[in-house]
Amino acid sequence: MGWAVAIFVFLFIAGAHCEDVKTPGASANVTAGSPKAPASDICRQCVCKDNKVNCYDQNLDTFFSKEEWAALADFKPKIVDLSENSFTNVTLMADLSIEILNLSRCKIDVIENASFKELQEMRVLDLSYNKLTAAKLSPHAFEGKYTPEQYEPLAAMRVLNLAYNDLHSLNQDLFEHLPQLEELDISGNPLTTIDHVTLIAISSLPMLKVLRMRSCQLTEIPEKFLHTPLYLSRLDISDNQLTAVPQELEETKNLEYLNLNQNPIRELDMTSEDYPGFPRLRKLKELHMCNMPSLRRIGPGALAGLESLESLHMSLNPSLEFIDPKALARPDDIGETYDWPLIKQLYLQSNNLSDIDSRLLSRWDLLEKIDVSDNPYLCDCSTQWIVDVLVPLIEEKKTNSSLMVCHEPIEMRGYTLKHLNEIHRHMRCVDKYGNRPERDGAILLGTLIGVLLAVPIMLGLVLLWRKGYFGWLGLRGPVDVSRAFYKRAPADDNLF
Ligand SMILES: *[C@@H]1O[C@H](CO)[C@@H](O)[C@H](O)[C@H]1NC(C)=O
Ligand SMILES: *[C@@H]1O[C@H](CO)[C@@H](O)[C@H](O)[C@H]1NC(C)=O
Ligand SMILES: *[C@@H]1O[C@H](CO)[C@@H](O)[C@H](O)[C@H]1NC(C)=O
Ligand SMILES: *[C@@H]1O[C@H](CO)[C@@H](O)[C@H](O)[C@H]1NC(C)=O
Ligand SMILES: *[C@@H]1O[C@H](CO)[C@@H](O)[C@H](O)[C@H]1NC(C)=O
Ligand SMILES: *[C@@H]1O[C@H](CO)[C@@H](O)[C@H](O)[C@H]1NC(C)=O
Repeated sequence: MGWAVAIFVFLFIAGAHCEDVKTPGASANVTAGSPKAPASDICRQCVCKDNKVNCYDQNLDTFFSKEEWAALADFKPKIVDLSENSFTNVTLMADLSIEILNLSRCKIDVIENASFKELQEMRVLDLSYNKLTAAKLSPHAFEGKYTPEQYEPLAAMRVLNLAYNDLHSLNQDLFEHLPQLEELDISGNPLTTIDHVTLIAISSLPMLKVLRMRSCQLTEIPEKFLHTPLYLSRLDISDNQLTAVPQELEETKNLEYLNLNQNPIRELDMTSEDYPGFPRLRKLKELHMCNMPSLRRIGPGALAGLESLESLHMSLNPSLEFIDPKALARPDDIGETYDWPLIKQLYLQSNNLSDIDSRLLSRWDLLEKIDVSDNPYLCDCSTQWIVDVLVPLIEEKKTNSSLMVCHEPIEMRGYTLKHLNEIHRHMRCVDKYGNRPERDGAILLGTLIGVLLAVPIMLGLVLLWRKGYFGWLGLRGPVDVSRAFYKRAPADDNLF
C-alpha cells in the first residue's frame, strides 16, 4: 500500500515536472513559431504567426497604444484578431499593413477620432457584438488620411460589420470616409424604423453590394431606400416585422439574393394592396421565405416577376397550405402562353401543403436539388403524378423521399409516396363533395349487402303472395285475380 502511494506521488511529481518543462516552451513558441516575429509586447500577449496576430479571448481590458502597435511593423501583420476581449475604447493605431481587423465581441463603446487612419490597407473591419450607440459612433471614427481628391477616405475599406450593437439610427454622414464600401452588416440593431438620417447614410454608399439588416425590428422598407446602391446584389432583411413583400425592392436592379425569412407576411396576392406579390426583379436567383408562421397562401403570379429564379427556399412555414399552380408563371410578351423560371433548387419541406401541383414548374427534370418532404400529403388521383413522376426524380437526385408521407385519406395515412411508387399504386379521386374513397367503399359495400339481402326476401314475399298468404290483408293471390278476369270475360264480349 505504502509503495503504491509512493509510486503515485512519484508519477505526480514527474507529471508536474513535465508541465514545468513545457511552460517556457510555450512562451518561446511566440518567437520560435515565426522567425520574423519581433519581441513586441503584443506578441508576448498574443500569438503572432504567419502575418496573423491572434489575441482572441486574452482578457485584454485596454486597447494597445500607438507605440505598441508600431512595434509590430516589422512583423507585417495582415490579420489582427482582437475579438472576445473587454476593452471599451479603441484608440489610434500605428501605420501597419493590416487588411482584416477583428474587434468583434469586445465591449467597445468609444472609437476615438481617426483611430484607423494609418491603416490604409484595411479591407475588413469587424465591430460586431459591441456597445456602439448612435450618439457615440461618429463619422470621425472612420476618418482616413487627407487626400486632395477625396474627403479623408479609408480608401481600401470594403467590408464593415456593425451588427449586434445598440444603434437606433445611423448618423447620416457615418460612411462619408468609406466611399468604396461594398458590404455592410447592421443586423441586430434596434432600428425599428429606417429614419431619414439612416436612409441618407445607406444611400450614400454607391458601391454597396451586400446589405444585411437581419433582426432590426423593421416594420417597413421606406421608399427610395434602395435607390442609390445600384450594384446591390445581396439583401438580408430576415427576422423583421415586415407584413408584406416590400415593393421598394423594385428599385434594386441587380439583386440576386434576397432573404425574407421570419417575417410576419401572411399572403402573397397580386390583387391585394396589403399583401402584394413580388415586383419584377429580373436578376433574382435565390429567394428565402422560410420560418414564417403566418404565411398561408401564395397567389397566382405572386412570384412571376422573378424570371431568373433558380433557387426557391420556402420551408418550415407551418400554415402554408396553398401555392397557386401559376405562382411562378408569367404571361409572355404577347400574352399567348406562360413562361416559367428554370428552377434548379426547390425547397418546400415542412409546410402544410397537401399537394405539389405539377404545373408549378415547367421543367421538373431540370431540378438539381429538391426537398418537398414533411408535408401532409393528400394521396388521391391529384397527387398521382407525384407518385409516378416526382418520386422517381427525387430518388434520382439521391435526396430522401421516404419522408414524403400520406396524411389523407385515412386509409392511406402513413404510407410513404415512395412505397406507393414501388407498388405502382393507382389512387382514387376524392370527389368535389369531399367524399372520401374509404367512405365510398363503405357505401358501396352497404348497397351490395342490401341488394344481396333484398333478392331472397323479395322472392320469399312473392312466393307467399302467390300462395295467397296475404288474403287477410285484402291482397288476393294470382289465382283469385285470374278467376276474376275470367269471370268478367263474358261481359266483355258484349262490347262487340
Ligand atoms: C505553439 O505552437 C503550436 C504549433 O504552431 C501550437 O499548436 C500551440 O498552440 C502553440 N502554443 C501556444 C501556447 O501558443
Ligand atoms: C474611454 O473614452 C472615454 C470617452 O472618451 C473616456 O472618458 C474614458 O476615460 C476612456 N476610457 C479608457 C479606459 O481609456
Ligand atoms: C471575428 O471574430 C469572431 C469571433 O471570434 C468571428 O466569429 C468572426 O467571424 C470574425 N470576423 C472576421 C471578419 O473574421
Ligand atoms: C472628433 O472630431 C470632431 C471634428 O473634428 C470634433 O468636433 C470632436 O470633438 C472630436 N472628438 C474627440 C473625442 O476628439
Ligand atoms: C393545415 O391545413 C389544414 C387544412 O388543410 C388546417 O386544418 C390546419 O389548421 C392547418 N394548420 C396550420 C398550422 O395552419
Ligand atoms: C431516408 O430516411 C429514412 C427515414 O428517416 C431512413 O430510414 C433512410 O435510411 C433514409 N435514406 C437515405 C438514403 O438517406
